[in-house]
Amino acid sequence: MSTLAPLDAGLAEFLVPYLPAGGRHRTLTYAASLDSRISASRTEQTALSGPETKTMTHFLRSRHDAILVGSGTAVCDDPGLNCRLPDASGVLRSPRPVVVDTNFSWDVQQHSRAVRTARDGAGLGPWVLVRADAADGAATVGGAAEYARKRAVLEAVGGAVLPVLPVADGAAVYGRARWDAVFGALEARGVESLMIEGGARVINDLLALGPAAVDSVVVTVAPLFLGARGVEVSPLDGRHDMDAVRWQPVGRDVVLGGVLRA
Ligand SMILES: NC(=O)c1ccc[n+]([C@@H]2O[C@H](COP(=O)([O-])OP(=O)(O)OC[C@H]3O[C@@H](n4cnc5c(N)ncnc54)[C@H](OP(=O)(O)O)[C@@H]3O)[C@@H](O)[C@H]2O)c1
Repeated sequence: MSTLAPLDAGLAEFLVPYLPAGGRHRTLTYAASLDSRISASRTEQTALSGPETKTMTHFLRSRHDAILVGSGTAVCDDPGLNCRLPDASGVLRSPRPVVVDTNFSWDVQQHSRAVRTARDGAGLGPWVLVRADAADGAATVGGAAEYARKRAVLEAVGGAVLPVLPVADGAAVYGRARWDAVFGALEARGVESLMIEGGARVINDLLALGPAAVDSVVVTVAPLFLGARGVEVSPLDGRHDMDAVRWQPVGRDVVLGGVLRA
């Protein structure tokens, strides 16, 4: 496991207005190229940010109760979703990993990084939010047997499968959970501060909901283009302006903080 660069003190101060300060707070954060792509394709994780902004990600994780990604990110990136940056007193505080996965398409295994991380005591067991009618697993990818296997893998490391998502009406390109159901289920389990880390479908869906869903936005812009085949961040419903905007150069990257305008 690579060592993190030290956290830039100026960056920590810059982030304060965009961080939870007690009570409910949802931070949307991701790294994008100059052409607003967050990866080169849906099947590969793409390194974008420099070492300093990578450390920032771990700092942000340390300041939230939970970190949420969509199933596309869980499948593509096999993320660890823990925090590797100790706080001022040297304590590591990892957020609860949460995967929004209507049809339970994440093929979670004993060797999945988030599972290994939890088993090693370096993070918390992931919660996977699936469709509400999935209690026996028949309606999810792989059916009842796979559902039981994946649930056992998660529960062995303190994670869980939470069948809490309303089932979408009609045919859809992908399962699209209602965010009030996602947030409600997490808040009912004590999650007040939530960091939303991607991927593009999750971000685009939430940007369209605006400040009702997202309290602050922290975007790392990396100095490269990924091209038209890259996975694009662009709100589903068109233009959204931002307020309380500040920019901070960090190494080769620049970090934007702001809030979505109502
Ligand atoms: N640069 C960065 O900061 C960053 C961060 C994270 C990820 N990524 C990249 O992003 C890519 C993955 O993004 P993605 O767009 O394919 O997947 P994603 O946004 O991670 O996950 C999308 C999936 O989540 C489920 N979902 C359930 N409810 C949803 C809702 N309301 N809105 C959106 N999705 C919902 C759907 O799958 P079901 O049908 O299974 O429910 C959907 O297909 C990967 O290439 C990854 O490397 C980049």
